[in-house]
Order: sequence, then structure tokens, then C-alpha cells
Amino acid sequence: MDDLKAKYLTQTADAADESALEAIRVAAVGKKGEISLKMRELGKMTPEQRQVAGPALNALKDEINSALAAKKAALADAALDERLRSEWLDVTLPGRPRRGGTLHPVSQVTEEVTAIFAELGFSVAEGPRIETDWHNFDALNIPGHHPARAEMDTFYMHRAEGDDRPPHVLRTHTSPVQIRTMEKAGAPLRIICPGGVYRADYDQTHTPMFHQVEGLAIDKDISMANLKWVLEEFFAAFFEIDGIKTRFRASHFPFTEPSAEVDIQCSWVDGQLKIGEGDGWMEVLGSGMVHPKVLEAGGIDPYEYQGFAFGIGIDRLAMLKYGIPDLRAFFDSDLRWLRHYGFAALDVPTLHGGLSR
Ligand code: DAH
Repeated sequence: MDDLKAKYLTQTADAADESALEAIRVAAVGKKGEISLKMRELGKMTPEQRQVAGPALNALKDEINSALAAKKAALADAALDERLRSEWLDVTLPGRPRRGGTLHPVSQVTEEVTAIFAELGFSVAEGPRIETDWHNFDALNIPGHHPARAEMDTFYMHRAEGDDRPPHVLRTHTSPVQIRTMEKAGAPLRIICPGGVYRADYDQTHTPMFHQVEGLAIDKDISMANLKWVLEEFFAAFFEIDGIKTRFRASHFPFTEPSAEVDIQCSWVDGQLKIGEGDGWMEVLGSGMVHPKVLEAGGIDPYEYQGFAFGIGIDRLAMLKYGIPDLRAFFDSDLRWLRHYGFAALDVPTLHGGLSR
């Protein structure tokens, strides 16, 4: 037995790789291995012999097995060390700022908005841009005959001849993400939904694709006061102006009751718009308390929960904050424009680190 032990432990120690180890395992403790065969002979022994040989063989088997396992781990470590030594990457090559791209103002503002609302406890939700007309309209309390459908200049998707289901639409706003998130997550809820939306419209302040960010907060005791505070915090942080004045004007949206449009303080001096001063007002968003029918469509009991919602144009925010005059230029992919209005790619906006250095 000592010979067997010496033989297999030496072989194990000398094994160069995993397949050599496997061969040793088969030869020693495999089904027809030398030690297994010896174990089979136990049956022919006298009980006294067996009492000595049995435990000894088992111990030998265990010892060889653990030697094999230890060697296997050692080989793996060595292989990893070797890879770490041979595969390396020189990360010291300096960046090439002149050739670097820039972040589009829409991306930058989306990041800024997200950073601010994240700080207020909102998480980001998303939904599809090709939307059912139920999510885009009906669930938001805009039934088939409602004038808002026509006002929204909707792009309808084509349906095959003879398919008379209602067509999908390119979502005309981010509000359907309210419904999708309610369906998925239920109440309570605190989300924003940034993303692209589509309407058949084109002039200096309208493009067929633009961006909105939707906000939605649902809980048992949410009120207009919460909406006002959240929006004021948001504008102060976004425009980096403490105590920026806002004005809530009564309005109407089918999916909120009551509804308010919100203006921020601004001035026009020599054709130059200045946010946060003067006695002019600039409309920036729509908002209100979520209509009970909308909560119901999202599967939430309006007798138990209530909430506020708002929708802001992201491109509009970018134009206001960064003084960009023409919306159409946002989507022209003109490199000179992108270099001028773009942002350094690595300056991720945060509230503490600065939103818009
Ligand atoms: N969905 C509206 C639009 O695109 C904007 C909006 C208004 C969203 C009021 C809201 C809201 O959530 O409460 O014109």
C-alpha cells in the first residue's frame, strides 16, 4: 500500500496539466483503477484482515483524491497567473480630445433631469415607442372621439389589408409609460420616463420626433402641494437658480384632474431670453393630479391611491438652458453644431458634482 501511495502521490505532484491528472485518477481510483481493484479483493479476506485493510484502502483513496483536487486547483491558479502575465492592456495611451465626440444636448439634459429626480427618489421607467392606441390614448382617458386625438397629429402604423384591429401608433407622448409602469409595478410609485415621442409637425419649434420626460408619483396621500414642491425643486436645480419663481395656471388634460400648466419666470432683454428674472413667464410643462380613470386603467384602485403627473419637453428645456434657438438643428447631425452645443462625454452630471460645467 505504501508503494501505491508513493507512486500516485509522486505522479500527481509531477502532473503537468488537467488531462494528466485525469489519467492518474482513472488509473488509481477510477472504476477499474488499481485501488478500486484492491478494494474488490476485500471480499475474499478474512474479517480480521478486512478490518485492517478496509480502512487503510479508504484512507489511501481519500488521500489520493484530495491530492488530485489540490493539484488541480494549483494548476488553475498557475494558469490564471500565466494569463494575467501574458494578457495585458496598456491603458496609459492618452485620450485624443480633438477627435472625441460630444454628448448631444438632448442626452446631456436627459442625464441632468435624471440626476435631479433620482435625488428626489424617482427611478427611471421606459416604454416602447411603437405603442398600442389603447396605451397612448384610451387608457389615458382619451376615448376614440376625443379631439385630443386629432390635435396630437398622430402617426399611425400600417396594418395589413383586412386586419381591422386598431393600428399601433408612434407614441405621441411619454404618458403611456405611466400606464405600463402602473400595470407592471402597482402602487406606490415614483418614476420618471424620458424618451422620444412623435407627431406630424415641422417648424422652428416643432420636429416630427422630439423628447419628453414624464413624471408620476402615486401614494395614499399625494397632493398638488407635493407636485408644486417637486417641480420647484426641479427647476431650481435644473436652471441652477435658487428660488426660481413658478406660476401654476389652471388648464385641462384628459388624464389629470385638476390640471395645471406651469410657467417659469423669465425676461426678454434685446431679444435675449433670461430664465429666473424679470416679469415674463415661459410655459414649460403640463401637470396635474392623475385622473381616477387613468389609475383604474393602470390597475390601481383610485379609492385607495392618488398621485400627480407631469410632462416636460426635454428639447425645450435644452433650448432654454443652453440658449439654442432652432429645434430643427437638434436633428440635423451637423458636426459643427454638435461640436458647438455638445458636451464632454465624461462629464456625467450629478447634483453634487455640478450639472452643466
Ligand atoms: N402628455 C402631455 C403632452 O404631451 C403632457 C402632459 C400634461 C403630461 C400633463 C402629463 C400631465 O403627465 O399630467 O402634451
